[in-house]
Amino acid sequence: MGITAVILAAGKGTRMKTDLPKVLHKVCGVSMLAHVVEAANKAYANKIIVVAGFGATLVEEEISNKAQMVYQKEQLGTAHALMQAGLALEEDDGDVLVLCGDTPLINFKALQELIKTHQENEAFATVLTALVDNPFGYGRIIRLADGTLSQIVEQKDATFEQEKIKEINTGIYCLKKKGLFKALASLGTNNAQKEYYLTDIIQKYSKEGKKVIAFKGALEKEILGVNDRCQLAKVERLMRESILEKHMLEGVSIIDPYATYIQKNVVIGKDSIIYPNTFISEGSIIGKNCVLGPNTDLIDVKMGSNVKARYSLIENSMISDNCTIGPYAYIRPGCELSKEVKVGDFVELKKTQVGKGTKIPHLSYVGDAILGEKINIGAGTITCNYDGKNKWPTVVADGAFIGSNTNLVAPVTIGKNAIIGAGSTITKDIPAEALGLTRDKQRVIDNWKKNKT
Ligand code: UD1
Ligand code: CA
Repeated sequence: MGITAVILAAGKGTRMKTDLPKVLHKVCGVSMLAHVVEAANKAYANKIIVVAGFGATLVEEEISNKAQMVYQKEQLGTAHALMQAGLALEEDDGDVLVLCGDTPLINFKALQELIKTHQENEAFATVLTALVDNPFGYGRIIRLADGTLSQIVEQKDATFEQEKIKEINTGIYCLKKKGLFKALASLGTNNAQKEYYLTDIIQKYSKEGKKVIAFKGALEKEILGVNDRCQLAKVERLMRESILEKHMLEGVSIIDPYATYIQKNVVIGKDSIIYPNTFISEGSIIGKNCVLGPNTDLIDVKMGSNVKARYSLIENSMISDNCTIGPYAYIRPGCELSKEVKVGDFVELKKTQVGKGTKIPHLSYVGDAILGEKINIGAGTITCNYDGKNKWPTVVADGAFIGSNTNLVAPVTIGKNAIIGAGSTITKDIPAEALGLTRDKQRVIDNWKKNKT
């Protein structure tokens, strides 16, 4: 029997002190909700329903292509949230896996085990629990003398004795669909928060003699719930550690994992070396044998192999094999570098294609340009691409040599193998093989200083 997952994600996240719905806060570049959806998918849920409420439009934008949305207009508690999925869930003999949108570290294997335990035991409700050092804030698992589960007591409702219990409710359950919504409808709000608690269903079932199980199948670090920004930072650190570990085990050297930030879904080829203070954003692809950092920020970058990039920022661009970048280069969105390109110190590129073997070694701005192969761009070359209203293109053909401190006033084309004399301001096209020069003739006036005094 297939399983349907319902992810509770309607809460405001008051403790986060945020205008953004809590579940849209990101962990390693991906929203908490998307992490949970991914885990549900990997646990073979054949349908995923997200209960949204606070900031529902934003939640829908994030997730509607991956899950069915239902809405909880008022946030009256977790049981009330699950009830909103009633219409979207056909009542059959199947089970529902309930997840919270604020537990992004959840491991799909723990979910698979939970489902298996629930189904093998033909239970009405199975709760995923964990032993934690500091149970503060979580619901406590209350077992009878023989070890069977009897109820879950929330932090705010717990007695002094119950507060000491270290087995906690992860907020993740497997529930029989049959009779579930009738049972949820019968729960009250007789508790400290005056909310409809989903956790109360355990005591109800237990009293009715229906089988309920507490399955101690999760590790503390997998179930951390994010209720405030301190917990958000903790979860970020834990996920980052596991991402870095995975890359290291696949052959990437990370000199200092405490100072390296690689988001989710990044591919890095083996034998690449990453120096401290390097950031690599979600979805980036890096080839083999690259040397990145120190102090390098790669945002949405596709990079080939044998690339060296130091002290640089590269955004939304493609860098081919054997390129050298930096130190202190700024490659803005829309650039495509062919193989063996050098972009050196204090060079800014924007929306520019650079042909194989071309060098822009120092102090240049090149924007909206198409550069051919084996060009040398001298220090201080500027493409004047903006006239105050429009952006214009600059084209430089293969083999051209642009002297230092040249202004290329776009739109302008420099022909194949053309040479531009240093210090020129080029406003008209230069044909292939020609010399372009706008420099004044140098004058030398002898004994100038002496004659002045
Ligand atoms: C809940 C559990 C607690 C468990 C903990 C695990 C209850 C009563 N308590 O507490 O036993 O240890 O999770 O992290 O269930 N939500 C809605 N609508 C609502 C209320 C909440 O969709 O009306 C969603 C929230 O967006 C969140 C999830 O349900 O994703 C849990 O709600 P939260 O308020 O964080 O519950 P906890 O106090 O953490
Ligand atoms: Ca929570």
